[in-house]
Amino acid sequence: MNILIADDDPMQRELLAGFLAKQGYRVLAAADGEEALTLFRRESIQLALLDHRMPGLTGDQVLERIKASNPLTRAILITAYGAVETAVNVMKLGADDFIEKPVDLTDLLARIHRVEQSLAVAADVAEVVDAVEAGPLPLAIIGDSPAMRDTLSLVRRVADSPWSVLIQGETGTGKELIARLVHLLGPTPAAPFIEVNCAAIPENLFESELFGHEKGAFTGADRQHRGCFERAAGGTLFLDEVGELPPALQSKLLRALQEKRISRIGSERDIAVEARVIAATNRDLRALSESGGFREDLFFRLNVLDIPVPPLRRRREDIPALVAHFVARDARRPIRIAPQTLDLLVRYDYPGNVRELEHILQRSLTLARGSLLQPADLPEEVRHGTTLAQGLLQERLDILERDLLTAALEETDWIQTRAAERLGVSERVLRYKMGKYALRRRSV
Ligand SMILES: Nc1ncnc2c1ncn2[C@@H]1O[C@H](COP(=O)(O)OP(=O)(O)OP(=O)(O)O)[C@@H](O)[C@H]1O
Ligand SMILES: [Mg+2]
Repeated sequence: MNILIADDDPMQRELLAGFLAKQGYRVLAAADGEEALTLFRRESIQLALLDHRMPGLTGDQVLERIKASNPLTRAILITAYGAVETAVNVMKLGADDFIEKPVDLTDLLARIHRVEQSLAVAADVAEVVDAVEAGPLPLAIIGDSPAMRDTLSLVRRVADSPWSVLIQGETGTGKELIARLVHLLGPTPAAPFIEVNCAAIPENLFESELFGHEKGAFTGADRQHRGCFERAAGGTLFLDEVGELPPALQSKLLRALQEKRISRIGSERDIAVEARVIAATNRDLRALSESGGFREDLFFRLNVLDIPVPPLRRRREDIPALVAHFVARDARRPIRIAPQTLDLLVRYDYPGNVRELEHILQRSLTLARGSLLQPADLPEEVRHGTTLAQGLLQERLDILERDLLTAALEETDWIQTRAAERLGVSERVLRYKMGKYALRRRSV
């Protein structure tokens, strides 16, 4: 186990470092908060021992940053003797324990052993999986982080209602899983759950796919076909990637939802819509509908209830359990995860979210040689960790850029030559960026 010590008092620092090194720990010592954070970013740290009062960044501040970038890192704060209020505060900030000065080394060691035990439990694949499977959800969905708990509690509350649900989240966050969960927790879990991927069906087949057709309705319609709406009767119709639906089909879908009736192509007869509709998208559908890329009325119809699914980098606490889950499912022989490996996995940013984690593990498990998954078994990008700040910065820049583009287009009445001029970019660049952010004029 790697232990980081941050203390501005050189005597105390050396005393602790020397003692812990003798116990067989790898110790990294820092003379202030800044140095501690630098070491923390560079090394895989399982436990931080932080002096509460330091010049510059205090132990609290260091603790807060460490926990924000890796909630799994354990921390013990060293506080002044008798400072009970501080102790309460540091526990609130997420310290796992605290110890008073002067530090009693035997006591410290006992506390460190406790931390080690809790880390061993977290890394123990079998145990974590048992805990997960004992959960009451009808699907294996892992999510004990505050962000996922919010999402799952929302799922439980909306599941029983008849309204349409819009699930929004980045690619690979588990939108489809959430959709199935809404269905299974709903009033008719045994009824069909019919999935339509709006991005994958060719435009000319979509109507027939959704609403069905009669024999002879068009060339090639050599027999009657029941559409997805009909097949989902009594259950759920899941419209995946609904943001990709072309405008003409948006209108047809809207009509079906408004009138609650459909008819097969080539038929006069109306059929009542008896399916609950759940839609999912990885686009910001509100923004898209504001910029004209998606019908606003359809957006409101789908978005009666809305379930946001947070990206994985906003719920890093879930990563160890997800790792355990995928390892238990995919490993062909018993394998444990080294603490440093888990540490790297927790720090990585996952632009592809849970699906990316799943693929990373499948690959690493296949290539791993021993019975312990080592950092060297992980892909390059995970080992070298894209920094947290990078991911967030790019996200913010993208939002900023999209807003600037939309504003310029609105102001110039969507005349691209003028908007490009205003933004100081070529028309080609403007068109490329409009494509990237799916900016389209709202059709009136
Ligand atoms: N909370 C979770 N617990 C366990 N497995 C999960 C979880 N979230 C996602 N997965 C798994 O990750 C993969 C991606 O999930 P899913 O297909 O639901 O994502 P999605 O948001 O629909 O992705 P896309 O936007 O690409 O369609 C699936 O294999 C799914 O089983
Ligand atoms: Mg999906």
